[in-house]
Amino acid sequence: MQVSDTQEVDLNKNGLVSLTDRLTIDCVWSNKQRKPSAKNGTRALLSDTDKPDILDKKFIKDMGEDEEESADYSKYIYFSQIGGILMKAVICTGYGPPEVLKFEEVEKPLPKSGEILIKVLATSCHVGDTRIRKCDIPLLYYIPYRIFIGITKPKKGKNILGMECAGKVEAVGKDVTRLKPGDPVFALTGFNFGAYAEYRCLPDKPNQGSEEREGMVAMKPKNMSYEEAATVPGGGLTALAAMRKLALQPGEELLIYGASGSLGVFSIQIAKHFGAKVTGVCSTANLEMVKSLGADEVIDYTKGDFAAGGKSYDAIYDAVYKLPGSRFKKLLKKGGRFVNSHQSLSIRMEDLDFLRDLIEKGDLKTFIDKTYSLEEIVEAHRYVDKGHKKGNVAITVAEE
Ligand SMILES: NC(=O)c1ccc[n+]([C@@H]2O[C@H](COP(=O)([O-])OP(=O)(O)OC[C@H]3O[C@@H](n4cnc5c(N)ncnc54)[C@H](OP(=O)(O)O)[C@@H]3O)[C@@H](O)[C@H]2O)c1
Repeated sequence: MQVSDTQEVDLNKNGLVSLTDRLTIDCVWSNKQRKPSAKNGTRALLSDTDKPDILDKKFIKDMGEDEEESADYSKYIYFSQIGGILMKAVICTGYGPPEVLKFEEVEKPLPKSGEILIKVLATSCHVGDTRIRKCDIPLLYYIPYRIFIGITKPKKGKNILGMECAGKVEAVGKDVTRLKPGDPVFALTGFNFGAYAEYRCLPDKPNQGSEEREGMVAMKPKNMSYEEAATVPGGGLTALAAMRKLALQPGEELLIYGASGSLGVFSIQIAKHFGAKVTGVCSTANLEMVKSLGADEVIDYTKGDFAAGGKSYDAIYDAVYKLPGSRFKKLLKKGGRFVNSHQSLSIRMEDLDFLRDLIEKGDLKTFIDKTYSLEEIVEAHRYVDKGHKKGNVAITVAEE
């Protein structure tokens, strides 16, 4: 859209001029309001002067511009227009039972330079979300955790839970090169969480070594629904990192203890992809599911000591962290490797692409136990709190 004179344009239903329009607009927002209340159908007044009538230095700083002279005013228009729009989100209003989760309207985030704005279509109820909500933290980390997340309740910026999501790119900030509006994506939201909301901004390229903290986005697997894709990043990336740490070689014997949870279902399949022979430990109800995901052998932990068979392993993954490590280590062959699900692991941005490729090749799938709507989030947390979900619990946020 070229604007030669002052003219009115229709904002789309989200109150935005589309990105394509923004790129060709050479004009400025001339409304004097800092945050116009741009509701659906609002008409924006644009004019082709050199500078905005008002210059908001904070906005320009947020855009990553050092000098107001070099500011990208077309972007200013865009940001001005989306500023002040509200979105629906679930706020964690305290540490406690699922009922601390409440719906509120909060300001829709704005993509800064290098950021992608995702319209969230699906998320998950991840065990990590329930642990943050309950402040279920090992004693050693209790004080650092409270300082980082919030002393009496999760602080602003960390009080919207949701560790993973799938959706569509709504808009991109300056210098975003990998993705464009309309792209279907899946994402790990990082240590600020935030997927229990209609929109979430994430970096296009997180800093190397900080991917898990800052979050990461990749194109969604074509052969998965948004709900399916939303359940992959958390468990899938952690399971992949664990299998890599175990340095599995083709033909090696791997024991996965807790094979029916989120980490379990992904690690069975990734280990099989690396050529390992997998023995999965789970309860009676999950034996068939674990076998169907590729486990060569299954052991029912409810029918006696899982170690009673006397078999030894090249590698063991404790995916649920319910037993002392010594119970597993004595089952290792000489030189065998052991990893548990509470160890810190290195997660890289390209791992999300790796998982997508495995999924599109048919070597990896998710297992969804239940799907809830975002309005049913309290119910979803109650279910995950029971500690016996099979694979993953998906949450629908919006229809495509
Ligand atoms: N998922 C992640 O991305 C992630 C990342 C880092 C750390 N972690 C940590 O890893 C642990 C597991 O995470 P998750 O997401 O896989 O949890 P999850 O999906 O909630 O695990 C539920 C599964 O655990 C099984 N289980 C429960 N008690 C068991 C026991 N005593 N022995 C064997 N299996 C048992 C249950 O099977 P039954 O019904 O058969 O008992 C159920 O299928 C949690 O402590 C979590 O904090 C998870």
